Amino acid sequence: MSARPMPQKTEPVPFLDAAADFRRYGKAWLAALREIGGSGCFILGPRVARFEKEAARFLRAKSALALASGTDALVLALRAANIGAGDEVVTTPWSFFASAGAICRVGATPVFADIEPDYFTLNPEAAAAAVTRRTRALLPVHLYGCPADMTALMKIARGAGARRLAVVEDAAQAFGASWAGQYASTHGDAGAFSFYPTKVLGGYGDGGLMVARRPAWTRRARRLAQSGQDAPFRHREIGVNSRLDEVQAALLLAKLADVKKAIRQRRRVARLYAQGLGGLSDVALPRARKGGEHVFCLYTLRVPPRARPRLARVFRERGIGFGIYYPRPLHLQPALSFLNIARGALPEAERAAREVISLPIFPGLAARDVERVCDAVRAVVR
Ligand SMILES: Cc1ncc(COP(=O)(O)O)c(C=O)c1O
Repeated sequence: MSARPMPQKTEPVPFLDAAADFRRYGKAWLAALREIGGSGCFILGPRVARFEKEAARFLRAKSALALASGTDALVLALRAANIGAGDEVVTTPWSFFASAGAICRVGATPVFADIEPDYFTLNPEAAAAAVTRRTRALLPVHLYGCPADMTALMKIARGAGARRLAVVEDAAQAFGASWAGQYASTHGDAGAFSFYPTKVLGGYGDGGLMVARRPAWTRRARRLAQSGQDAPFRHREIGVNSRLDEVQAALLLAKLADVKKAIRQRRRVARLYAQGLGGLSDVALPRARKGGEHVFCLYTLRVPPRARPRLARVFRERGIGFGIYYPRPLHLQPALSFLNIARGALPEAERAAREVISLPIFPGLAARDVERVCDAVRAVVR
């Protein structure tokens, strides 16, 4: 008599594996905590200075400033560009809220131009059409780790006959992504990164970095980040308090040394997904346009809107993590209702909100787990 196979108990597939990350870097982090605790130098110390230098060298950026968050990096880049009340900034409606929130925080008005559906990034033609005489800047977002078309966008800002616009790149999700052989954040005047734990270069807490082409912008932002102080207890303008601390900097230095490997591992997972799902006609896989190198901070598919709740249910049943980034485009956010942008005005962003679903991706994700995720997708979508 042959034994019946026992039903297999399968392990969940997490969306992210923070515990594995901590196994890799926790020791260095705890050692830094102890050392820094003993020294009493928690902020504005040597590790932050070294991290700024090494991040700038990695990115081939002219200058860098470590901050408390990616949101602050966007706000201070816009302030360094002297963007303020009465100014318009053309940006994408398809991003995390901070991209538009930062524009509002400096007193300017976000003007949304729709996205390119294949890449989820600002559509250069739509951006050009949104420029008015009040426009002072473009704020493209390299969403999910996919670089925006910086050649076309820089042409709008600097091309022959163009009125010179500042360009601030939101590279919060795109550390290590490149366009035309140059890292995202270094095409325009300034760029912003987030070190929120889920990012490609993620800390154990909040953190951010602003990079700038002109060191004078970084100097101004550095002053603004310290309550506008230009000499001890002399405040030249109203700033904020925004600093990366030494413990985060120590961790980020360790992770920066490995970030190329981490990106290679993310790309390997993306290739496995492409092999497993490439034949499905109802699924659109994420990709960068020619000239761009994606870092897959998120691996975001499009599926037919009716299939998405079913897919979510199957993922839940099988213990597979997933995310919807984002359920609502920015122009339909309650906080931005004062802009009076009607539903239907930005159809590609609105369609993305109905179709996207992000799959598990992180550097150590095993091939067999990718296969289980692909099986679940194939069980729902053709
Ligand atoms: C596209 C985008 N912009 C800006 C931010 C803001 O970064 P932080 O959360 O570090 O303030 C994020 C982070 O979630 C982001 O994903």
